Amino acid sequence: MPGGTTIRAYAKINLTLEVLGVRPDGYHALRSVVMPVSLFDTVRLEMASDVTSDYPGEGDISVKAARAILPPGAGVRISLDKAIPEGGGLGGGSADAAAVLVALNEMYSLGLGVDRLAQIASSVGSDVPALVLARYAGAVVMEGRGEKVSPLGVSPGRTLHIVLANPRVHASTKEVFARCSSHMAQNPEILYNMREALASSDRGKISEALANDLSGAAAALHPEIASAAERLGAVVNSRVSMTGSGATVFALADSPETADAAVAALEAEGFWAKHVTNECPVV
Ligand code: C5P
Repeated sequence: MPGGTTIRAYAKINLTLEVLGVRPDGYHALRSVVMPVSLFDTVRLEMASDVTSDYPGEGDISVKAARAILPPGAGVRISLDKAIPEGGGLGGGSADAAAVLVALNEMYSLGLGVDRLAQIASSVGSDVPALVLARYAGAVVMEGRGEKVSPLGVSPGRTLHIVLANPRVHASTKEVFARCSSHMAQNPEILYNMREALASSDRGKISEALANDLSGAAAALHPEIASAAERLGAVVNSRVSMTGSGATVFALADSPETADAAVAALEAEGFWAKHVTNECPVV
């Protein structure tokens, strides 16, 4: 790949998301299990003399990532082919930024280890360190504002068929956090239960262990999220959770056929919907 490369930037879902309190810097302290899913943006990088992106708006975070990692005088031209909806809690912009960091480390032979990459990532955005580590480790536990990340260490050991549904509203992360009640009681069982459930590969147990402390605040701001969750639960016949600060909700289907039928039903009702899995091959 002299001079350039093309890579995938996978979306994520938050299997758990606990809000543990407000930090002195105003950000919320979190604990979350973040799992990459098979929906991806395609990121093309070409060596250049300065840093540019063909994507206005969300492209900025990729540019920020490139500037954070490249030595002075080095540049890159970034092209994004977007498939991950923006502002949906699926981490699209953060995944693009994580992909840029990992790819530029190789393209420019910077020799940075994953810990250093995650450190640089935390200056780019709250979700970026988790998505850097997820490229190496699969599901990760993210803590603090997002700067503390570690491999979850267990994977489902089978293909999960996940249906994503979005009521086509944009949930502002800032507004959702501002509305959520802080200082929630810490419950170590939430992380423990998710680990155990994933290790058991039992779809029902994984569904039972899903949790998101931001759901109430997001649905209060956007009642459409509650409607999407209700419809998704009905068509998949499973528990529903929300990813990130919304507005995307998700559920685990019992088969690929159920997932495909659910997507067709939800699209007919005007929702954005997608059948994804937990399989994210590096290509
Ligand atoms: O880091 P990011 O730009 O995604 O965060 C957007 C907003 O969400 C922040 O400005 C902050 O208000 C809120 N936030 C928070 N606690 C976090 C992450 C985000 O309060 N851990």
